[in-house]
Amino acid sequence: MVFLRKYLESCGCEPELIALIRLVSRQMGAIRKAFLENQMYENTLNASGELQAQMDTWADNHLIRVVGESGLVRELASEEQEEIIRFENSRCEYAMVMDPLDGSSLISTNLAVGTIVGIFEKGSVLQPGSKLRAAFYTIFGPLTVLVVSVGKGVQSFAWDPETEHYLLLRDRFCVPEGSQYGTGGVRKDWLPAHLKVLEYFDQNGFKIRYSGSFVADCHQLLVYGGIYTYPGSMKKPEGKLRLLFEANPLGFIITQAGGRITDGKQNILDIMPEKPHQKTPIYIGSKGIIDTIEKIYSTT
Ligand code: AHG
Ligand code: MN
Ligand code: MN
Repeated sequence: MVFLRKYLESCGCEPELIALIRLVSRQMGAIRKAFLENQMYENTLNASGELQAQMDTWADNHLIRVVGESGLVRELASEEQEEIIRFENSRCEYAMVMDPLDGSSLISTNLAVGTIVGIFEKGSVLQPGSKLRAAFYTIFGPLTVLVVSVGKGVQSFAWDPETEHYLLLRDRFCVPEGSQYGTGGVRKDWLPAHLKVLEYFDQNGFKIRYSGSFVADCHQLLVYGGIYTYPGSMKKPEGKLRLLFEANPLGFIITQAGGRITDGKQNILDIMPEKPHQKTPIYIGSKGIIDTIEKIYSTT
């Protein structure tokens, strides 16, 4: 059995980074338990103007408290917090970005949702995704699974509630050139380039898989390949998903597994963020398909 800590040590991670990854990933037991009492919606909106689920705010408050008390993080930006949080008393310089609960519209359906985290070694949270020191996500499915990259490929671990350890599930992922896709948005609002991309998928016999949870649909890409996309539209050219909290951490992980992430024109991990809740159109998945998508965009 390979435990998370041992594995991160074998990757040469500094003790404080190991401590931070273990601290946050070990909160998933408490978050999983909180679903029982938090099935409804608050009457508040987040910074993206979206109604907050009780679990959005529960997970957000819980992780902010735990991370703040740890003294491991200088700066924290959350999808659920308008402003960036600074912990002046921190003994470390890590900057952390998080989507405390991704896919929250699915809570009432009991489909897989999860938590997304990105960690920068130091400095501001407003850095390109390519500068991430580590990124991980957890998925609440039949197992509570942690998928992590510290820049040495991608590994997954399963939470064992008996021993209260994360045990190595898979020590290497390589995104295959799949043939499935999932797209967010509404057909009548899609832009010509996106319609051409979908036409390419259909002409090549791609099948559709879209759950409503980016983190779950993205995890499928690691296993089966293919594409997840939430495109820009006529009404919202920037799309729906957030650069800091969703695109960058998941894009870092998929890239570490040999896949790619683009907005149709550029590698999203190269984008210099200007504001915390900045959005971006997203195509993420198999490298070859992403290369084709960028060719379609360049000629539309
Ligand atoms: P969040 O729950 O953090 O707001 O994220 C939801 C995102 C993403 O996870 C998912 O793929 C997408 O929104 C679903 O959007 P639609 O409901 O518009 O399909
Ligand atoms: Mn999300
Ligand atoms: Mn969320």
